[in-house]
Amino acid sequence: MILAIETSCDDTCAAVVEPDGRRALSNVVHTQTEHERYGGVVPEVASRAHLERLDGVIEKALADADTDLADVTRVAVTVRPGLIGALLVGVATAKGLAYARGLPLVPVNHLEGHVAAAYLADPTLEPPFAALIASGGHTALYFVDADHEMRLLGETLDDAAGEALDKGARMLGLGFPGGPALEKAASFAGGDLTRYDFPVALKERDNLDFSFSGLKTSLLYKLKALGEERVREELPYLAASYEAAVVEALLRKLLRAADLYEAPTVVVAGGVAANTLLRRTLEEESAKLGVGLVVPPPELCTDNAAMIGAAAPRSPTLAYPTYLDLNARSI
Ligand code: KG4
Ligand code: ZN
Repeated sequence: MILAIETSCDDTCAAVVEPDGRRALSNVVHTQTEHERYGGVVPEVASRAHLERLDGVIEKALADADTDLADVTRVAVTVRPGLIGALLVGVATAKGLAYARGLPLVPVNHLEGHVAAAYLADPTLEPPFAALIASGGHTALYFVDADHEMRLLGETLDDAAGEALDKGARMLGLGFPGGPALEKAASFAGGDLTRYDFPVALKERDNLDFSFSGLKTSLLYKLKALGEERVREELPYLAASYEAAVVEALLRKLLRAADLYEAPTVVVAGGVAANTLLRRTLEEESAKLGVGLVVPPPELCTDNAAMIGAAAPRSPTLAYPTYLDLNARSI
């Protein structure tokens, strides 16, 4: 069994995954609540909360899988990218566990983990495929070739997609997290997604990067021009058009990547993959194009350790005890 650990941001996570990385026997996520009163994740608070919680989370992951450390044959851990102090707690714990039991250690890239969640959602999935990761911290597009090699095709030049939704929601006076708040406000627009015209950046055919800063600026100007009362009246339409512009940017690039790289399947993961408009449009568009679609369930889309375990069989393994000088990296 693979014991997987993920502590790159504000979720303390551990999971037990089968050796082929296609089935999770447990997936424990403790979401830190310490940050709520600060309105954002405080890195040092995150590190300390991981330190307090991680042992218990690992014990629960082993218990939920009805197994113990004796059945663990390797330890997988997120080494980058993320908050450096938070990552170090996971890396030090993983090293300690692996070293004490003479096991190999697998360092995993967090974004490759998000992509690997697709193997848990569909254990029969085989590359090649194009994958979009869209969350509060990352927006990246990958091509996974038939040899499981992952190539980064594009990423955001400024805000992540989830960040753009969170900032837009905040400007509209809606709650946090912004994605679900916008979605709820937009549900009162009666399906009118085009009343307000928001820009979709970097439209050139061969450009697979993203940019969401123009969208934010555009919303700011619209709010100023409308004035407070009109903004209140128009809230559902503003929310719907803004959400639709983010979804359009994501879909356009993902389907273009599939086309350019002749990928028969597309994969979407990250917190934004929970979005109903995104899922629905993607189902329609992929069906039209005859492209397969894998969108993991929400609990595998947001940060978790099962996805880190799923990435482990395809990541280079460090033999015991060569990993003692392994370090975490923030980028
Ligand atoms: O992957 P995730 O849970 O966490 C990190 O980024 O660490 O992603 C969170 C992001 C937030 O920006 C949130 O607004 C967005 O995912 N999100 C959504 C939805 N649910 C969460 N965005 C659009 N629609 C949703 N239903
Ligand atoms: Zn993530």
